[in-house]
Amino acid sequence: MSHHTISVQGLGFVYPDGTRALEGVSFEVGHGEAIAVVGANGAGKSTLLLLLTGILEPAAGEIAIGEIRLTKKTLNAIRQRLGMVFQDPDDQLFMTTVFEDVAFGLRNMGLAEDEVQRRADAALGAVGIPHLRERPPFKLSAGEKRAAAIATVLAMAPDVLLLDEPSSALDPRARRRLIGLLNGFSHTKIVTSHDMDLVLELCPRTIILQQGRVLRDGPTGRLLADAALMTEAGLEPTQSIVHRRYGEQLRRGRR
Ligand SMILES: Nc1ncnc2c1ncn2[C@@H]1O[C@H](COP(=O)(O)OP(=O)(O)O)[C@@H](O)[C@H]1O
Ligand SMILES: [Mg+2]
Repeated sequence: MSHHTISVQGLGFVYPDGTRALEGVSFEVGHGEAIAVVGANGAGKSTLLLLLTGILEPAAGEIAIGEIRLTKKTLNAIRQRLGMVFQDPDDQLFMTTVFEDVAFGLRNMGLAEDEVQRRADAALGAVGIPHLRERPPFKLSAGEKRAAAIATVLAMAPDVLLLDEPSSALDPRARRRLIGLLNGFSHTKIVTSHDMDLVLELCPRTIILQQGRVLRDGPTGRLLADAALMTEAGLEPTQSIVHRRYGEQLRRGRR
């Protein structure tokens, strides 16, 4: 099923104020792969996701989802395949109840009401919040909001999930639940994050962006364990790697 692949070639983007946010970014994502995009603030992570979903239009380069090149003509077809979970759930939730938010996109697709109900309830079940169905989204906790935002996207049955900093603003328990949830999805995924432990658990491969360019693209474990590389990229090493190193030092010290 090659249609769940992503190809990005020579992608460049400049904001109207002249900020060069991305330059010469190229990579391929295989079917079912989970990829992390990491980098310091302003490295271009969110811009990349906005380009992939066609919310922004590239200044240079090409994007293809499966065999379809992203153009104005193919934008609608491509958007049906991509599900974007924005960094701020308040950008995704705007109806009076969680159910209405999840149903919104489905109704826009012109689905019959029983199908809308079925798919919305299935999505709420998949993210573990059927009990929040009738609650107003603005009254939910950060973790509940994130789950609701993911449900609005899952209900649309996308092939590819794009998640922008999904664990930001979550407490440890909500974060742990989120990691379990995302690990259970077989979708092709691109996840931007500052949370290196989440990246390590969720994404076998990582792309490091630095000032709008690809600094490195490789196996997550190897990149995150490279302290010099992490410092160069302006990233913190993962707590799990720090603990492992500390444990090794302790063991060596005892010998
Ligand atoms: N709306 C905007 N107008 C002008 N510059 C922007 C805008 N949004 C982001 N930028 C700039 O583009 C660059 C990349 O930003 P962004 O993609 O948000 O980075 P990240 O998500 O990695 O923090 C940064 O230099 C940022 O300041
Ligand atoms: Mg961002």
